[in-house]
Amino acid sequence: MATYSNNMKQDLPSDREAVLRVAAMPKESNTGGSIFGGWLMGQVDIAAGIIAIQRAAGRVATVAVNNFHFREAVLAGDLVSCYAEVIEVGRTSMTIHVDVYSQRHLGAPGAAVLHVADAELTYVALDDERRPRTVPEESVDEP
Ligand SMILES: CC(C)(COP(=O)(O)OP(=O)(O)OC[C@H]1O[C@@H](n2cnc3c(N)ncnc32)[C@H](O)[C@@H]1OP(=O)(O)O)[C@@H](O)C(=O)NCCC(=O)NCCS
Repeated sequence: MATYSNNMKQDLPSDREAVLRVAAMPKESNTGGSIFGGWLMGQVDIAAGIIAIQRAAGRVATVAVNNFHFREAVLAGDLVSCYAEVIEVGRTSMTIHVDVYSQRHLGAPGAAVLHVADAELTYVALDDERRPRTVPEESVDEP
């Protein structure tokens, strides 16, 4: 039976929806038996990018990964869920916070939910010429 740190949670967050859920496949594993950090960073960039595109109502580019904390290893077979939210809006930029949880041994004895990473990334809204454009006012009609 695997042992986990006190980072183990009982459940996924109930007050928000995951923007991305993806199974970590064996082909993403490194020689140490856990999933490549770069693979997880890619999933986080996709998840935060979706939120940035929604907020910017159009094209964006990642301009900075401000911080990325790998709290626990992700293992092949984990179901990875990314929760992302806008935490700051500038003139053309948006900063997004992402929490990542892994569901391990889903539906089996020893099932666990782990808070495996958190990160903060900045995106810039772009126009058709890929130049920075002003982030629009938040629409009250948007979900
Ligand atoms: C995104 C890009 C168009 C910004 O161009 P730029 O000339 O740096 O634009 P600006 O200096 O006007 O900065 C735009 C905004 O980004 C912010 N910004 C720029 N560099 C930043 C950094 N390192 N960290 C945080 N924010 C940054 C600025 O503060 C500004 O925000 P604000 O308008 O809300 O005040 C340009 O850097 C670019 O194309 N980068 C490549 C993006 C990309 O391809 N990403 C994927 C990599 S595979």
